[in-house]
Amino acid sequence: MKIFSGFSNIKLAEGVALSLGTKYFLPERFVFPDKEVRVRITEKVVGENAIIIQPQCAPVNENIIETCFIADALKRNGAASVTLVAPYLGYQRQDHVFRDGEAVSLEVVIKMIESCGIDKIMVFDLHSIKIPELFKIPVVHLSAFPLFAQRIRSMIHITDKPLIVSPDRGGLRRAKQLSKFLKGSSLAYIEKSRDLATGSVEAKELKVEDGSLIRARNTFIVDDMISSGGTILKAVEFLKKKGVGSISVFATHAVFSQNAPMLLQDLSIDKVYVTDSIFTAKNKRFPKLEVLSIAGMIADSLKKN
Ligand code: R5P
Repeated sequence: MKIFSGFSNIKLAEGVALSLGTKYFLPERFVFPDKEVRVRITEKVVGENAIIIQPQCAPVNENIIETCFIADALKRNGAASVTLVAPYLGYQRQDHVFRDGEAVSLEVVIKMIESCGIDKIMVFDLHSIKIPELFKIPVVHLSAFPLFAQRIRSMIHITDKPLIVSPDRGGLRRAKQLSKFLKGSSLAYIEKSRDLATGSVEAKELKVEDGSLIRARNTFIVDDMISSGGTILKAVEFLKKKGVGSISVFATHAVFSQNAPMLLQDLSIDKVYVTDSIFTAKNKRFPKLEVLSIAGMIADSLKKN
């Protein structure tokens, strides 16, 4: 197995290689004045199972193209197989037509990935569990939630019954998944509405799964990703109005667009936990942020698959 890193999250490739007790290779990359990119593999890969580690995060379009070029270069140079480790899959929220006249952007991206020699893909906490069905190649779908559960267990007393909250009904499956790892936890979700044209969200109602009153001392909001931070902001404001005490936020993918870091830092919460599925640059880090690494999970899965 030979590990290659794209340029979107070199630190993660470093962590995976370290966990596997091996090294990783970076392709050569040249960006032309008109922004075309040229990549070149300088390692011998004949007969190798090549792994590309490259989350499809911002700049999403550039990272997707770069991934395809690296995969093509690996196959042309004789790699026996190419596995793409894309812990964050770009365009995953555009997996179907929401309004007449739209493209299914994710399907187009999948066709690109599949047409350039990638034989298998590994992803984390997809927005929808139906996404793997859109691929023709095998998909290894992992979750950072065991890591989150481990962190939560270290924060609460054994007798505490944590409340796991999804900021929307769509995420209830995720909250259930996390609560399975946390004995005695209660589950709730916030009924919200989003304006598709402006993107603005409004929290309407808190639905506690077993209908019980909220007595939890520790509340954990869980989501797949934080982009603008709008969803989390509304959820926190809403829970605070309902009298919930200490709140921490767990989300796998730190998309962190616009002024999300500042917005999250200013919330009345203890902490925001994300993973390194997307590299969080220094200018996007903030005191309440803690980044948990999925490098070990990726390494373990690569050993098995
Ligand atoms: C929505 O369905 C997703 O699970 C996330 O809640 C959403 O994408 C987060 O976006 P934002 O941070 O911009 O509200």
